[in-house]
Amino acid sequence: MAVENETKRKKLEKPQKQKEKREIKKGEAKAEAKSSVQMEVKNNPNKKRKQVFPFGNYKNYYGYRIGPGHEVKEDPRIKVLKKEWFEGKDCLDIGCNSGVITIHIAKEYNCHSILGLDIDSGLIEDAFWYLRKITKVESAQKKQARDSSVKVVQGVNSLEQCTDASSNEGTNKSLNYHSSGERDLSDIVSFRRENFVQSHCPPDKHYDTIICLSVTKWIHLNWGDDGLITLFTKIWRLLHPGGVFVLEPQPWESYEKNRRVSETTASNYRSIMFRPESFQEILLDKIGFRMVEDVTSGLSGTRTGFDRPIFAFYK
Ligand SMILES: C[S@@+](CC[C@H](N)C(=O)[O-])C[C@H]1O[C@@H](n2cnc3c(N)ncnc32)[C@H](O)[C@@H]1O
Repeated sequence: MAVENETKRKKLEKPQKQKEKREIKKGEAKAEAKSSVQMEVKNNPNKKRKQVFPFGNYKNYYGYRIGPGHEVKEDPRIKVLKKEWFEGKDCLDIGCNSGVITIHIAKEYNCHSILGLDIDSGLIEDAFWYLRKITKVESAQKKQARDSSVKVVQGVNSLEQCTDASSNEGTNKSLNYHSSGERDLSDIVSFRRENFVQSHCPPDKHYDTIICLSVTKWIHLNWGDDGLITLFTKIWRLLHPGGVFVLEPQPWESYEKNRRVSETTASNYRSIMFRPESFQEILLDKIGFRMVEDVTSGLSGTRTGFDRPIFAFYK
């Protein structure tokens, strides 16, 4: 009888223990997930948790990079980007963060189209929010310009009645300019959440210009040498012949600082063979780019810690 009871008790206990075990596992999984984004400051639970950005997916990157309160046009990198790389071109921005540079390029250099990709969905939401905001401001400005040019034309028309008709050529030109149906930024710029290293590359999709600024370190640390080669190969495949790849690689010394953002990055850091100093050689000799232009000398006023070279590779 005692044995029977004991067996029954064990049977009853089993589901309860299994449930407890499941709860513990759940907790561990949650903690693991948390540790990828937040680390408790050692031995002091009252201290603020430190946020970790395992893909370089920093929020407020531009406040930090350009300086708080500064405008994107003050980013020294903007000055070395050539208009001819973007004007009327189909462009891709890999690792676009919150889209600040993507939108600026579209606005200033009149791209035909530009797509910004980022692995972080929160940053892509920010980018869309920022795009909507700028598009609103732009269309209000355009409307104001249209209204005022209509007023000017109305004034000129009444003047015309008492002057020679041939004298209004310049005014008509200005009217044409404003009514030529300039495209909205939202027709030119788009954003998509995508892990560029692991996404499928459609064979019929091509770009004239691809930019990849301050992203290689994060791809290299998270996916190792294979990830880096995948990045370069995909870019080459996505470019039209004659297309340009604008690259701002982070120097090797800066990898050390970020190598511990996750176990994966720590392990990849130890096995990396291709250092940034060899990227030029890889892109020219192995990937197949025709030539490289170093535009770094035009960079001035760069904030400390961001003195990185910028290269343009031509397919
Ligand atoms: C340091 S930020 C640079 C942002 C921007 N390119 C610039 O220089 O102004 C690096 C960006 O790359 C993104 N990133 C990292 N790995 C990526 C991947 N595999 N695919 C797409 N985006 C990635 C991050 O989320 C982050 O926004």
